[in-house]
Amino acid sequence: MAQLRIRASPRSISAATFCFWTSSVPGKMELEGVVMRNGSLAVMTLTMLGVVLAWDGARAGHPAIEERQALMKTLGTATKAGAEMVKGARPYDAAEAKRILDTYVAASSRIAGLFPAGSEEGGYTKAMIEIWSDATGFKAAVDKFEADARAAATATGDLETFKQAFATVGADCRSCHSDYRQ
Ligand code: HEC
Repeated sequence: MAQLRIRASPRSISAATFCFWTSSVPGKMELEGVVMRNGSLAVMTLTMLGVVLAWDGARAGHPAIEERQALMKTLGTATKAGAEMVKGARPYDAAEAKRILDTYVAASSRIAGLFPAGSEEGGYTKAMIEIWSDATGFKAAVDKFEADARAAATATGDLETFKQAFATVGADCRSCHSDYRQ
């Protein structure tokens, strides 16, 4: 989103400084200047950080890329919460444990569909080409994750049970990442 910020110049009431920047991208485009009372424009600085346009173009890649990264992020958030309970950083909560394992189950059935042919490029992705060149191996990794997540989903009785289930599923995350993620 482009934003325009106008503030009065501390030095002179005859001028207003303005700053224009885009915040939708990590690269930043900034234009700062002074509008004089007579309407003329004195641009003081023009900064472009990052290759804004090129980056924007790369980002508009295959829609599956952003979708799968968003899905993976939900797994990351759930796993962080689970790890905190396992480490004792916060008390064990069976309802929360169930929510975490349910998140895994729901996500696991969506993974395979988010790596369609053509989404190996055309955007910023860490997916390795082996996902497509070794489709059988990737499918096996997805299936194992799904099966383990389903088996773990009811393992919320107490912290010890959850710990084991959480460790099994966690190993699936790591194993798939080491084989199929850059
Ligand atoms: C079957 C393979 C597979 C499994 C299982 C898997 N991941 Fe991923 N994960 C990937 C791939 C591939 C990417 C890279 C996606 C991309 O950049 O297009 C990824 C990316 C991520 C990311 C980064 C997302 C981003 O911001 O771009 C996180 C976080 C993540 N995974 C967490 C997890 C967690 C936690 C689990 C287990 C609960 C898990 N993943 C299970 C394959 C897997």
